[in-house]
Amino acid sequence: MKIFDEIESEVQSYARSFPRVFHRAQGEFLYDEEGNEYLDFLAGAGTLNYGHNNPLFKLKLLEYIENDGISHGLDLHTRAKGEFLEAFNEKILKPRDMNYMVQFTGPTGTNSVEAALKLARNVTGRHNVIAFTNGFHGVSLGALATTGNSHHRGAAGIPLGGCTRVPFDGYLGEDIDTTGYLDKVLSDSSSGVDKPAAVIVETVQGEGGINAASMEWLKNLDKVCKKHNVLLIVDDIQAGCGRTGTFFSFEEAGIKPDIITLSKSLSGYGLPFAVVLISPELDHWKPGEHNGTFRGNNLAFVTAKAAIDHYWSNDHFAADVRRKGAYISRRLQEIVDKYGDGNFTCRGRGMFQGINCISGELAGAITHRAFKNGLIIETSGADDQVVKLLCPLVISDDNLKRGIDILEQAIHETCADNARIPEEIDYFDDERLIA
Ligand SMILES: Cc1ncc(COP(=O)(O)O)c(C=O)c1O
Repeated sequence: MKIFDEIESEVQSYARSFPRVFHRAQGEFLYDEEGNEYLDFLAGAGTLNYGHNNPLFKLKLLEYIENDGISHGLDLHTRAKGEFLEAFNEKILKPRDMNYMVQFTGPTGTNSVEAALKLARNVTGRHNVIAFTNGFHGVSLGALATTGNSHHRGAAGIPLGGCTRVPFDGYLGEDIDTTGYLDKVLSDSSSGVDKPAAVIVETVQGEGGINAASMEWLKNLDKVCKKHNVLLIVDDIQAGCGRTGTFFSFEEAGIKPDIITLSKSLSGYGLPFAVVLISPELDHWKPGEHNGTFRGNNLAFVTAKAAIDHYWSNDHFAADVRRKGAYISRRLQEIVDKYGDGNFTCRGRGMFQGINCISGELAGAITHRAFKNGLIIETSGADDQVVKLLCPLVISDDNLKRGIDILEQAIHETCADNARIPEEIDYFDDERLIA
């Protein structure tokens, strides 16, 4: 571990929660150098929906590399890109009656958000963008302006402009539809809110604490955008690629956003890859206006196509995600009823769920104890108060149960400890927790 302390920047974050040296992974498992096995309920922060080193995609990738397939091609037409586009169009877009142009951006989610915002501003000639409380859209400056988290915003070093913040669904209480507020300020020429180019939204806020917007709210948001001639950008970087039980997280709402960002699990193999989907009439880009050396990762094209072919040629996989999602809902509700003293709540949908433990200390103690028992699971939310379940979608039923059992045990023990010992426990020094 010494080298990481010596020369890796202090910016490390996940490594602090899981201080081991990992060197092998398969499916829903990670292994450290000592040979310890961990069930992975973090899954690359939503990047490994199809598991680590998915054997089907690995074969395709090895074959491609063996045959000297193009690994870097700027934005040249390559066979791998053509085949990805073909599969994406035939198996993802067309069956959903979706007609979009595909823009390959730099390979991070935040770069696709940058592109989406730039395009919306250039097409409409307006600079302002509406983003939501607790939203997370990345940490490069343009995207960061739309991200809510003060820890990330604080690192910008300059004022973050061009964005008006509006309450997300549920932010003002269950009974208040905040799209009514948005409609009101956009209708009032003296509201002080400059007419925006776009509204950017996550249907389930991942980093913001697993806040799931209702379908009704999403429909109303879409209506408000259309009424005021404002573009709707859905950032489906974390919630997309099947996480909520459909390929796109907004399908159930029946909306067709003007612009969609996708990344994380799109490559299927954890390879960096991001795209923007653009309604054809908005594709006003001039050649190379938003460029980047690593636009379109050819290795990712191969694995992304394999993922689409294998998992998205019919509804079986999505149905299985919904089935496992229902199991997760049931188990989490039972845990909340049993241990939360009326304070804990379940949140999320599909296989994108969590438990709000109200306190970040409590949630941190739970995830730390779970780690000691072989489960990698993280927190999210403004105060890291939500324990966030993000296991690979392909996880076996047995391992899903096992992971939730470990989590339940960690909650049981942490709550029991809290009841017995009111003062704070430093779990990192607590030898009783060492497995
Ligand atoms: C919804 C959403 N948008 C954008 C991003 C930024 O993606 P990246 O970390 O690849 O830049 C994330 C990352 O967690 C995200 O969850």
